[in-house]
Amino acid sequence: MPRLVSHPDEVKIVSRRFGQGAAEMDRYLELGGYQSAKKCLEQGPDWIIAEMKASGLRGRGGAGFPTGMKWSFVPKQSDKPKFVVVNGDESEPGTCKDHLIFLHDPHSVIEGAIIAGLAIGAKQGFIYLRGEYRYLLKIMEKAVAEAYAHGFLGSHIFGSDTEFQIITQTGAGAYEVGEESALMESVEGKRGVPRIKPPFPALVGLYGGPTVINNAETIATVPHVIAMGAAAYAAVGSERNGGTRLFSLSGHVERPGVYELPMGYNLKKMIYEVGGGVRGGRGLKAVIPGGCSTPVLLPEEIDIGMDYDQVAKAGSMLGSGGVVVIDDQTCIVEFAMRTISFYQHESCGWCIPCREGTDWLKKTLTRFHAGFGEAKDIDNIQHIAENMAGRTFCPLGDAAAGPILGFVKKFRKEFEEHLEGKPCPFARHGEPAVV
Ligand SMILES: Cc1cc2nc3c(=O)[nH]c(=O)nc-3n(C[C@H](O)[C@H](O)[C@H](O)COP(=O)(O)O)c2cc1C
Ligand code: SF4
Repeated sequence: MPRLVSHPDEVKIVSRRFGQGAAEMDRYLELGGYQSAKKCLEQGPDWIIAEMKASGLRGRGGAGFPTGMKWSFVPKQSDKPKFVVVNGDESEPGTCKDHLIFLHDPHSVIEGAIIAGLAIGAKQGFIYLRGEYRYLLKIMEKAVAEAYAHGFLGSHIFGSDTEFQIITQTGAGAYEVGEESALMESVEGKRGVPRIKPPFPALVGLYGGPTVINNAETIATVPHVIAMGAAAYAAVGSERNGGTRLFSLSGHVERPGVYELPMGYNLKKMIYEVGGGVRGGRGLKAVIPGGCSTPVLLPEEIDIGMDYDQVAKAGSMLGSGGVVVIDDQTCIVEFAMRTISFYQHESCGWCIPCREGTDWLKKTLTRFHAGFGEAKDIDNIQHIAENMAGRTFCPLGDAAAGPILGFVKKFRKEFEEHLEGKPCPFARHGEPAVV
């Protein structure tokens, strides 16, 4: 059972029910559960979408697309059935927030999915969990069964003529199926490779029907937006970035954990005050602000607000909100090698720049870090990464290339220090850090 952390600066909205037994239906109802869905059923789709737009809620899966706008793209009339898909694949290294929602507050995901269904006129929802979260499937399935038993799901939700059904399922453990179109392939029982876009899921999605696909945190936030009102929710965050988000703070920090902070919260403050500073009083070398796909920031670049726009202005991305703190005893070449090893392993192999590029980068960085690098390798690493970025079928290629380019650009000297057969300057006890 993961330990819950807290800090006085937190504004608990989506994590409000964590640790309070809300996985049980009675407790969820006691804490105000299913009231938002009921209200949305009364108010209708246009009202729901207007509220979501006014809330400033932006998707918590990575790209930060405005949720209300995404829902408004779904055509009102459709010959094909419409669908809601909850993306609980959560595989981005450094990100561990969605699993807390499934664990502590599964009904909020169901309630959010019902509201999304009401907004777009879908009768069927899917809750998709990453393969490694199989143990959470039991919790979700129990919650779904309880929701059916209470009449919140089914052919006549809340005693009305409106239908909404939910199916839960897991993947088999692949990072790529977190990408929305690959996830839909997986739901359909096919190999998890992405689809060509356009068409986008809002028009042609699951089983060819108009589909809204949202991250689990986005969906779990929806009932709270309805309960507190769009304006109140928007007011918690920063400009164009409504509300709060769950930040997964990890790496070399004294108090790692998942903290719910207002959008726009200062990154430096998050590390030094919320997280208690760098572990063991060491110096800070770098910070990954939004999961391992996002380019690294230097200590002098972290005095910024954590919202989509401010982090982008600083040259990186807010991504999935996974903040990884890197201390001054860490070898960046090794960090880059480990990062690319992940992407090389997870590349689905569908397109060449990603399949070959991640493999070349992994091989080059492994050789380089082991002390067999040549000066030309540094430019070559950069050259390969540059030729992957923007040239792949899905954004996994960019996710792999972006961080590597950042490491080489900002830590070139450290790469040069590995040259000429010298041992890794950060090797512990005189041993190479990686053999
Ligand atoms: C390689 C890759 C992996 C992704 N993994 C996830 C994931 O695990 N969870 C998630 O919600 N979104 C993930 N995304 C983003 C989804 O494609 C999609 O944008 C997101 O589910 C939309 O939800 P949102 O609007 O609520 O953020 C991934 C994207 C890519 C390219
Ligand atoms: S970029 Fe290409 S090879 Fe890489 S995961 Fe996407 S589709 Fe697959």
